Amino acid sequence: MGELLANTLPGMRDLLPEEIARWQSAEDRARRIFARYGFLEIRTPVIEATELFARSIGAETDIVGKEMYTFRDQSDRSVTLRPEATASVVRAYLQNTMYRGGGVTKLYYIGPMFRHEKKQKGRWRQFYQIGAETLGTDHPAADAEMIETALRFLESMGIKAELLINSVGCADCRPQYMDLLRQELRKHLPALCEDCRRRAETNSLRVFDCKVESCQPYIQKLPFIADHLCGDCAEHFSSMKSCLQEAGIAYEFAPRLVRGLDYYVRTAFEIVSGELGSQNALVGGGRYDGLSEVLGGPRVPGLGFALGLDRLVMLLPEDQSSGWQWKPELFLAYMGEPAFRKAQDIARGLRQRGHACYYDFLAGSLKSQLRLANKLRAEHVLIIGKDELERDRYSIKSLKDSRQWEVTLSELESYLQAQAKGRAV
Ligand code: HAM
Repeated sequence: MGELLANTLPGMRDLLPEEIARWQSAEDRARRIFARYGFLEIRTPVIEATELFARSIGAETDIVGKEMYTFRDQSDRSVTLRPEATASVVRAYLQNTMYRGGGVTKLYYIGPMFRHEKKQKGRWRQFYQIGAETLGTDHPAADAEMIETALRFLESMGIKAELLINSVGCADCRPQYMDLLRQELRKHLPALCEDCRRRAETNSLRVFDCKVESCQPYIQKLPFIADHLCGDCAEHFSSMKSCLQEAGIAYEFAPRLVRGLDYYVRTAFEIVSGELGSQNALVGGGRYDGLSEVLGGPRVPGLGFALGLDRLVMLLPEDQSSGWQWKPELFLAYMGEPAFRKAQDIARGLRQRGHACYYDFLAGSLKSQLRLANKLRAEHVLIIGKDELERDRYSIKSLKDSRQWEVTLSELESYLQAQAKGRAV
C-alpha cells in the first residue's frame, strides 16, 4: 500500500452520516420558516472573481486582507472561494436585473463559505451559513422583520440566544465620526496593542473588537458611532427599535458592535449564545444600502443576516436527530444465490413504490443478517430461503414486537402500504 492520503486540510472536516441528521433538520426548518416570511432560495457559485469580495467586504478587513482562499485559475484570473454570500447575492441580483419592475426581493441561501482563519472551537475554514437578504427597501420595519425571522428560526430549533443591536451610521455621518475616532485613538497610540495601533489608521472601527485587557480602559472612553448619527440615521434606528418592541422582541443596545465587513450602514446586529464559548456569534447581519452601487448597480438598499450552521448544530441536542435517521421498512434476509436474486427483485419493486428496503451484499448466516437488521433499526425482516422460494410464501418478522407470520408478495406490499399510511397520520 502506498502513502495513505487520509487527512482533510486543517480547519476542514467531513460531516458523517450519523451527525448529518441534525444538519438536515436545521436546514429543513430554515426553509419552512423562510417560506413563511416570503424568502425564495437562491444558489450562487462558491467561487467568484476576487474583486467582488475585495470591493464589497473592504480591502482593509481581516476577511479580505488575511482570510480569503484566493488563487489564479487556468485563465490567469484571480478567483476566490466565497468567504460569505451577501456580495454574491447582490451580484446575482444585479446581473439578473432582479430590480427591474421595482419592488422588494427576498432571497435566502444555505451553503459552504471559506475563510482561512485561526482554528478555534466553533471556527472552521469551510463552514456553512444559512442566510437571508432583502433588497429594495430601506424601511426600518424590514430590519426588524429580518431580525424576527432569524429569532423565530432559532426559537423553533429550541435555541435561546441574545440579540445585540447597534447603528453604524451612513456615508453622510460616518466620515465625521471616523475623524473624531482617529483623533481620540492618536492620543492613546503608545498605550494600545499592536493590532489597535495598526487599525487606528487603516480601519479604526475594528478597534472596538479588541479583546486585549490593557486596551479596554482606552476603548471604553472612545466615542461611539451611535452618539454621532445624522438625523436620518438616528430616526431610522429609533423606528427600527420601536418595530422590535412592537414585535415583542427583546434586544440589548451594543454600542461597540461594529461588525467585520465594511459594507454595513445603519443597522448592525448579532445574535449571540453564552453556550458557544469565545466564538459566541450565531448570527451576524445588518443593512448595506450602498453595496449595489459599489458593484456598479443602481441605488438599491438592502439588508440581511447569516447564521453559522456549524455553531447552531453544536447547540442542538443529540436526540433531535432521532426522527431523521434513515431506517429500512423492510430488511430482506436471504440464503443462497437464487434467494439473493429474489431479494433484489422484491426490493426493486418495493423501492419503486416508495418503500425503504435493504439487503446485505455481504450476507453471511441468517443470524448475522438479523444482527445487521437490528443495527439498522429495520422495522421488519423478510426471510427468503429455498423453502420460501418454492412455495412463493415468505416469513415476515416485526422487529418491534417479534411477531412472525407468512405472506405472499401481494400481501407483503399491502401490509407495508398500510404501515406507511399509519405512519403518515
Ligand atoms: P459574519 O458575521 O461574517 O457575517 O458571519 C455570520 C455568521 O457565520 C457568524 O455569526 C458565525 O456564526 C458564522 N461564521 C463566520 N465565520 C465562521 C467560521 N470561520 N466558522 C464557523 N462559523 C463561522 C456575514 O457573513 C455576512 N454576510 C452576514 C450578512 C448577510 N450581512 C448581511 N447579510
